[in-house]
Amino acid sequence: MVKSYNLKGPKIVVEPPGPKSRNALARKEKYITNGIKIGLPAELDVAEGPFMRDVDGNVYLDFTAGIGVHNCGHRPAAMVKACQDQLDKFIHICFMVSPYESYLRLAEEMSKICPGNLTKSIFLNSGSEAIENAVKIARAYTKKKWILSYKTAFHGRTFLDISLTGKEKPYREGFGPLVPYIQLLDYANCYRCPLCLEYPSCNLACADTIRTIMETSPLQGDVCTLVGEPVQGEGGFIPPPPGYWEKIRKICDDNGVVFIDDEVQTGFGRTGKMFAIEHWKCNPDMLVSGKGLSLGMPLGGVTGKDEIMSAPGPASLGGTFGGNPVCCAGALESIKLTKKALPNTKMINKVELKRLKEWKEDVEVVGDVRGLGAMLGMELVKTRKGKEPVPELTRNIQLNCFKKGLYILTAGTYSNVIRLHPPLIIKQNLLEKGLDILESALKEETKKAGL
Ligand SMILES: Cc1ncc(COP(=O)(O)O)c(C=O)c1O
Repeated sequence: MVKSYNLKGPKIVVEPPGPKSRNALARKEKYITNGIKIGLPAELDVAEGPFMRDVDGNVYLDFTAGIGVHNCGHRPAAMVKACQDQLDKFIHICFMVSPYESYLRLAEEMSKICPGNLTKSIFLNSGSEAIENAVKIARAYTKKKWILSYKTAFHGRTFLDISLTGKEKPYREGFGPLVPYIQLLDYANCYRCPLCLEYPSCNLACADTIRTIMETSPLQGDVCTLVGEPVQGEGGFIPPPPGYWEKIRKICDDNGVVFIDDEVQTGFGRTGKMFAIEHWKCNPDMLVSGKGLSLGMPLGGVTGKDEIMSAPGPASLGGTFGGNPVCCAGALESIKLTKKALPNTKMINKVELKRLKEWKEDVEVVGDVRGLGAMLGMELVKTRKGKEPVPELTRNIQLNCFKKGLYILTAGTYSNVIRLHPPLIIKQNLLEKGLDILESALKEETKKAGL
């Protein structure tokens, strides 16, 4: 039996954070490291579908999806039931000790749904750990040193992962020295072109600069891998222009470089396709999954070409909990549920894009509207011409939404992007309700800021 709470909302009964949530925050201050910062200060009680209820009785509409995880809503019954069934059999043995069905079947399913010829997998505990493993495997395969990533990327929180991002604060500050032999690249951000050019007359010159880096000293002949998100997530929901990933694919091929496609945030239907890279004609050598892979059960995956995945020596990879049987059982349901939810991303895209474009017409601070499928966001700036980021305004809009019963996230190298992660199963009227809240917060806070 899967418990149902019949949540309806959004409904605010006491201004959040209410007294019980405030008590939770005080305990957090006392017992939890300062390194963890709370974004939205309500203690969660239960969650179901598109809703979450806090301990004070407020019900929120969730457009954060637990940071892009609950693509099929909170606790879909089929997925909870699959996990319960596995809990009733066994919880853990470790795949390195003995194989089991849910891990094996998940690997088979990943080989079917991943683009290109990716046939072998390993499962880990998180997206971060999956990125670590993908890079280790690429090193074992190529026997080359240099790792390329983008300055505005985000690939996780381990030492390697923070070395792969250029956003100093909060990710890297105070933690160095970081991992050597990493070269950070400019990304194809057409709103803030690193080369001050315009698409399409630029002819994707930003990709050409990457070829130059690979083909000149000190990296020449010694680049192991390029790690990229097909649409940057934490960097600010930035899709590169048409033709970009095809060009990068060719540059990697010409230089024997393994292309690692980080689909941790873009994967599992978020952009309207199972994996975002499918929007381009570019098959990766390895695909890294996480988040929506198991709809909230902690799981990350690397799925790659046979010859690459076969490169590491026996027992060189693994971990006690990686590919836990309950998480893999959840992921098998996630694949089925995501396939069913995918067509609804068309409605989400149409409804959101219409509203976001209207706001761009109406409100000066909406500098850019962008994204793919159900992964849309807007970048907020002081003036259209100067494009000065407004992180405080962005944060105030987020908090205003929170007080009205809507959870949203911010992102961006300059923390000035509002990003929307509604569950892919959301109904149109509820989506509109959430967007109404966001619109009123955007207009109120912009007015308050005198912009
Ligand atoms: C693109 C991308 N890669 C990797 C990660 C790290 O995943 P995790 O937080 O599960 O370690 C994230 C997390 O936000 C991500 O967005």
